[in-house]
Amino acid sequence: MAQKSFFLVLEGIDGSGTSTHSNLLKGFLESKGFKVHLTVEPSESDIGKLVRKYLKDRNVPPTTDALLFAADRDFHYQNEIKEKLSEGYIVISDRYIESSIVYQSLQSDEISIDWVKIINKFAGKADLTIILDIDPKISLARKTSENLEKFEYISFLDKVRNLYLSRAKEEDYFIINTNDIIEFVQQKIQEIVLDKLKEKGFIIKNHK
Ligand code: TYD
Repeated sequence: MAQKSFFLVLEGIDGSGTSTHSNLLKGFLESKGFKVHLTVEPSESDIGKLVRKYLKDRNVPPTTDALLFAADRDFHYQNEIKEKLSEGYIVISDRYIESSIVYQSLQSDEISIDWVKIINKFAGKADLTIILDIDPKISLARKTSENLEKFEYISFLDKVRNLYLSRAKEEDYFIINTNDIIEFVQQKIQEIVLDKLKEKGFIIKNHK
């Protein structure tokens, strides 16, 4: 019989805390006895490295960005995520398809959400997506201004935030406000994840 698998994704605007909370969640799930694989997009592959370089380059056409993010994801899913899931790991991805749906569709009027979905259609679906929500004025204040990437400015991130929120409504994603103390936010994430794992038939140590 195939191993039980679980694929969860944390999403949110720049500075919303996806990396911090992915790491904390990994530690928590490991303490409950699960094998956990934490990964990130843009990925560590050569395609991911090119995508990261382009995050500093305002001359890359948005359509090229969208296609490269999709290629990075396809490679990431086929070569890494799928394999880890089949080995019985819980996979946590810090960003996934929803980042492309939101950021790339807002980069240009030429890019529709449907097209982004099509170019990402071979990357498997997540079992759970959680949106970390925060006001960009607060999230950007956590960054140093000299290293800002091309999407990191308030008027764009306001649109990104609003689209994440409306996508969450449409797709029934969980939304957690991250303008709170880290431990409190992490606890809320853990509760949602444990509930979903139970629903999927996972047995959880020391849990009612
Ligand atoms: P981020 O996740 O903030 O990583 P870091 O803290 O290392 O800079 O940056 C990734 C940026 O890439 C972020 O602005 C969102 C953007 N992005 C997209 O536009 N589309 C995508 O599909 C993904 C995965 C990321």
